[in-house]
Amino acid sequence: MGPWFCFFTALLLVETQSCPEICNCVAKKKYGRHIADCSYRDLRAVPLGLPFNATTLTLSVNHISSLQEDSFADVVDLQALWLSHNEISTVAQGTFASLVQLRAIDLSHNRIAVFPWGDLVNLTALQQLKLSSNRLEKVPPEAFRTLRDLRSLWLNDNRISVLAGGTFSSLPLLSQLQINHNPFNCSCKVWGLKRWLEETPVSIPERDSITCAAPDNLKGSILGRPLKLDCMLPSIQLAYHSSLGNSVLHDELTLRLHCSAMGRPPPEIQWKIQTSTREVVINGPNVGEGGNWLAAGSFEQRILVFKNGSMAILEFSKADEGIYTCQALNDVGSREASVNVALAGSKKPAGDIIRNNIQASKPQTEPCEKEESPKSEDKFVVIYLTPVAPMTSNEGATLWEPQAWAGVLLLPLLTLYG
Ligand SMILES: *[C@@H]1O[C@H](CO)[C@@H](O)[C@H](O)[C@H]1NC(C)=O
Ligand SMILES: *[C@@H]1O[C@H](CO)[C@@H](O)[C@H](O)[C@H]1NC(C)=O
Ligand SMILES: *[C@@H]1O[C@H](CO)[C@@H](O)[C@H](O)[C@H]1NC(C)=O
Ligand SMILES: *[C@@H]1O[C@H](CO)[C@@H](O)[C@H](O)[C@H]1NC(C)=O
Repeated sequence: MGPWFCFFTALLLVETQSCPEICNCVAKKKYGRHIADCSYRDLRAVPLGLPFNATTLTLSVNHISSLQEDSFADVVDLQALWLSHNEISTVAQGTFASLVQLRAIDLSHNRIAVFPWGDLVNLTALQQLKLSSNRLEKVPPEAFRTLRDLRSLWLNDNRISVLAGGTFSSLPLLSQLQINHNPFNCSCKVWGLKRWLEETPVSIPERDSITCAAPDNLKGSILGRPLKLDCMLPSIQLAYHSSLGNSVLHDELTLRLHCSAMGRPPPEIQWKIQTSTREVVINGPNVGEGGNWLAAGSFEQRILVFKNGSMAILEFSKADEGIYTCQALNDVGSREASVNVALAGSKKPAGDIIRNNIQASKPQTEPCEKEESPKSEDKFVVIYLTPVAPMTSNEGATLWEPQAWAGVLLLPLLTLYG
């Protein structure tokens, strides 16, 4: 086997370093470039045997219809990949993922409807991405998030109806963006994009061709111009409602929070509860008007979320201490407000969950301070509600807004019982 093995190995090596017969390969040593030019060749697929040290691969103007995961597996040093004017409709996931040296990709004038956006995550050297004149309908808000070097992005002449406002806001070097000639649906989902278009210094050619295709009353309207979009980011107030009067004798405590949210369209409310041992997310109400109060049991069963924005935790105890967050979400974006809830009387309220415990203070009521019995902690319950920095997000983007801060209503609760 020895000599034959060597022979075949040598053959293989020679082959991978050679150039496909149909292409023209040149090395520009001075610039460290190795160009493989296979354009205008009537190719129906990416040719095999590409020179492994190619830095530029030109496959423009052919009839290539699909790209496979291993199409470019041999040419991982590629810095430029030209594939425009083909018939590409299928791009397998992983096709570009390992081409981490890429600075430019041109896939314009193809038939791509579904693009493997995840492949872009590690292509952090990418400066130019052309996907214009394809059939793209959706671009995820996080598609370009890691492309810190991206300068030029072409998405024009596709079928994109919605782009989130934050889609391009993580691109510090972006200088040219083309999104004209897409059938934008001018609902509140493009409100963020519209605002971004109005403010960004990025050069955006053909602004007058960035128009609405829907709804009917806005058809043809230019997106970057004053446009009647009746949209409002949710505003939110998180408040505590006392259920226990001092006179009421109770052997259990109910924590009640009320989240009032406004926005256009009306926002949906989601509660997130983060205790030291678990995280619970509750989407929408789990109890109807006058619905059954579930018997106490597991944590989840003790959480009642009402349609009106109220939430109650029955039999609130030390284990339930944590961060309580109400998030309001609509087509424009989301806002959330959080409070830290901790029972007083425990030596270390909520452990390290409470970080900026600005609202917590020692109970001021005399009896507690004086009472020395070992049971005093159990009898006197104080819930501290401490603000957690509020968060606003406009789909792709996350912004910290000081205004939302004011929306958090804080009321330290003092409850006596027993
Ligand atoms: C690949 O690299 C070798 C050595 O640097 C060079 O001699 C050869 O011409 C290169 N091949 C191509 C196709 O650029
Ligand atoms: C990106 O790189 C990381 C770290 O090397 C790796 O774990 C991940 O799988 C890569 N992602 C893609 C899409 O290739
Ligand atoms: C536009 O968006 C709205 C809101 O998301 C949706 O209800 C409507 O069906 C969309 N219209 C078209 C033509 O896609
Ligand atoms: C919300 O509804 C629940 C159940 O009907 C009620 O107990 C609670 O007081 C209401 N909250 C507000 C703020 O009206």
